[in-house]
Amino acid sequence: MATPVALRAIVKRAGRGENTRAMPNKDAVIVILAAGKGTRLKSSLAKVLHPAGGRSLMESVVRACLPLAPKKILAIVGHQAEQVTAAIKLLDVESVLQQPQNGTGHAMVVAKRAIGNAKLVVVLPGDAPLVRTETLKALISTHRNGKAAATILSAVVTDPSGYGRILRKSENSVAAIVEDSQLTPEQRELNEINSSIYCFSADKLWPALAQVKPENKHREIYLTDAIAILAAKGEPVLAQIAPDPREVLGCNTRADLAEVDAIFRERKRNELMTAGVTIQLPETVLIGPDVTSGEDTVIEPCVQLLGKTRLGANCTIRTGSVLHDAVLGDGVTVEPHTMIFESHLDGGNTVGPFARIRPGSHLKKGARVGNFVETKKAVIGEGSKVPHLSYIGDAKLGSHTNIGAGTITCNYDGVNKFPTIIGNRVFIGSDSVLVAPVKIGDGAYVAAGSTITENVPPNALGLARNRQTTKPGWAAKKRREMAASNHGKKSPKKRSAVKKSRRRGKSRRK
Ligand code: UD1
Ligand code: CA
Repeated sequence: MATPVALRAIVKRAGRGENTRAMPNKDAVIVILAAGKGTRLKSSLAKVLHPAGGRSLMESVVRACLPLAPKKILAIVGHQAEQVTAAIKLLDVESVLQQPQNGTGHAMVVAKRAIGNAKLVVVLPGDAPLVRTETLKALISTHRNGKAAATILSAVVTDPSGYGRILRKSENSVAAIVEDSQLTPEQRELNEINSSIYCFSADKLWPALAQVKPENKHREIYLTDAIAILAAKGEPVLAQIAPDPREVLGCNTRADLAEVDAIFRERKRNELMTAGVTIQLPETVLIGPDVTSGEDTVIEPCVQLLGKTRLGANCTIRTGSVLHDAVLGDGVTVEPHTMIFESHLDGGNTVGPFARIRPGSHLKKGARVGNFVETKKAVIGEGSKVPHLSYIGDAKLGSHTNIGAGTITCNYDGVNKFPTIIGNRVFIGSDSVLVAPVKIGDGAYVAAGSTITENVPPNALGLARNRQTTKPGWAAKKRREMAASNHGKKSPKKRSAVKKSRRRGKSRRK
């Protein structure tokens, strides 16, 4: 058994992997470069607004930075500046407009005033969203401990194409970053790449940046060129290799976006599995970043859990189901191919298969909604059942009520919506139509096939259909009459017999 001391150590170690603990860097400003268009994506949407793993690239980058607790976080915006600013406005980020976009170095020049007198400047591209807070923390402490002018986050990768390469002066220091387009054939073999994530000492950065010239085919001022200038001056320039090269993946193309999305999804699934959730065929399951789950919940293949969905413990979400902003208590079974949107299930419920639970639905404890049932703004009381083929909209059901197959609440007259109120222990016979506004009192019955337009008082029977008339012998008589009227004509049976014999004759003649 673990002693209290050992337990504390475990807790501490577990915390190290998380992106949540704040570490103040009040002498640092973080700059996120997000002004570019992202031409290679071929999209009308600015690159950093594209989603991966359930969030925009930009939001993921900002979220990785927040726990560093810097003096401020700046976003350099240009393309679709308003939309990019709006996407992160709740995260306390200040925007600086770069217009036109003359390169990553130019973006820093534009940010200089907003950066003010900060001692450290941490730079990140807005299109590399997988970076972890822990990696950024390590980068900053390497920079501080090494008293460096610049520290680059690098990565060793198998396919470095498209990235700037790190040219090392010695094992511990960097001479330059060479952009992919400017590599010599020997340099093309280098597999340590520039992530575009750096930590600069501000007093060294500004003079170096002032010396950078737009000497490249795009006539842009590259931030990467400031590295060679610093190194040439003899300033210490370090490169720290990211522990996982996947963390620095940039999204320049749709294929990059798909790869990054897959990594985010895998991380999220692993997080839930670590928290005690069983996921079958995990690679087929899509889970949003804000989704949570209790222990011993089972998620079957091809399930999507989106938005702010929260699952309780011991739930089963069966194959093909999609949950968006759904809150489930403990022990809920969601049968295959069920959709639940913006709804609450208190616990012990069964829904589906093929159910559609639309916004504003609330299934109280033990309530059941079965196959081919649609609910919308509906309260299904404790232990109540809507087992098959129904539409229950703008309705409130009490407890232990049973709704027969095919029951429909007519909530809409083409202009307005009206409520249906059904009490406790009510029995609605199959194929009933409840024309709202209407109330069915506690303990009442509605006869199958009724069209209910008036309230049914408690314990009453609502019967709203024609009484059945049965005419003995009617069908037999009808058949005799039909036979008589066909007298003289060939009966259908005889006709087909004639056809058949003709066909046989033909085959014999062959
Ligand atoms: C950049 C680096 C490259 C590195 C790679 C890592 C440069 C010159 N090259 O290349 O060494 O390996 O990232 O992913 O820096 N941006 C602005 N303003 C501008 C230009 C760009 O804000 O004027 C932003 C973009 O929106 C983007 C980021 O800077 O978020 C990086 O620009 P991008 O064009 O993607 O650079 P890469 O070619 O990927
Ligand atoms: Ca990029």
